[in-house]
Amino acid sequence: MANIIDGKAVSAAVKAEVAEETAKLKDEKGLKVGLAVVIVGNDPASRVYVNNKKKACEAVGFQSFEYALDENTTQEQLLDLVNVLNRDDRVNGILVQLPLPGHIDEKAVINAISPEKDVDAFHPVNVGKIMIGEYSFLPCTPAGVMRLIESTGVDITGKQCVVIGRSNIVGKPQAMLLLQKNGTVTICHSRTKNLKEICRTADILVVAIGKAKFVTGDMIKEGAVVIDVGMDRDENGKLCGDVDFESAEKVAGYITPVPGGVGPMTIAMLMKNTLTAAKQQAGI
Ligand code: GUN
Repeated sequence: MANIIDGKAVSAAVKAEVAEETAKLKDEKGLKVGLAVVIVGNDPASRVYVNNKKKACEAVGFQSFEYALDENTTQEQLLDLVNVLNRDDRVNGILVQLPLPGHIDEKAVINAISPEKDVDAFHPVNVGKIMIGEYSFLPCTPAGVMRLIESTGVDITGKQCVVIGRSNIVGKPQAMLLLQKNGTVTICHSRTKNLKEICRTADILVVAIGKAKFVTGDMIKEGAVVIDVGMDRDENGKLCGDVDFESAEKVAGYITPVPGGVGPMTIAMLMKNTLTAAKQQAGI
């Protein structure tokens, strides 16, 4: 039976580190840390995420600035707001919640965020920096996954790492981060042939394909570290991951549950990025 990786505990530890350093910066340097979160429209899932980000800001001692814009906001209005936030010294990090309504070009909005305040690490400048290993911010989910792998004590160096999924937000940066830690990395996706065989070679398997219970126990190497980035619904409408936990935990050495695995890490890493942004902007 696998060891369960407790994302809630690791996330709490990251947030505690951030809170401690934030309090110290305030006491010693009078520095306040601020995150602006922009949401456009009424998507209920986005609303929940934004509320959670606001709560996390309060918990670590950040100022949070929320901008809830109407569904009909024009791209120009949104770009104007981003430009105002880029110039606002109280705002160290800017997060525009995705997805945006269809009439707004997400790329144009991401490109307008100052790379120094891009705490999602979605701007092409920050994406490029990840590629060459000279980054300030890591995208929150892959960074959270790295922290969870670290929590197992398993050394990535020389290990076979398989990432399933090739999105710009998770799969691609995840592969880069594993490579930087000296893993031997294979990226699989929906068109990959022999996916099962490739998965079975993985000492470290990160699954971000967005299909409920896609990876089953027979696709996992005995003792592997299995990280499930999925947030899906099973046939009964119950929240589950991309990994079939029941069969996988019998084979894996370490495994993340859904919920309570990768999910809580994303916001913790966002807090960490915002603190990093504040320090860099203050020249600390
Ligand atoms: N929507 C879902 N996840 C994310 C995220 O990590 N960042 C942003 N900006 N929007 C999201």
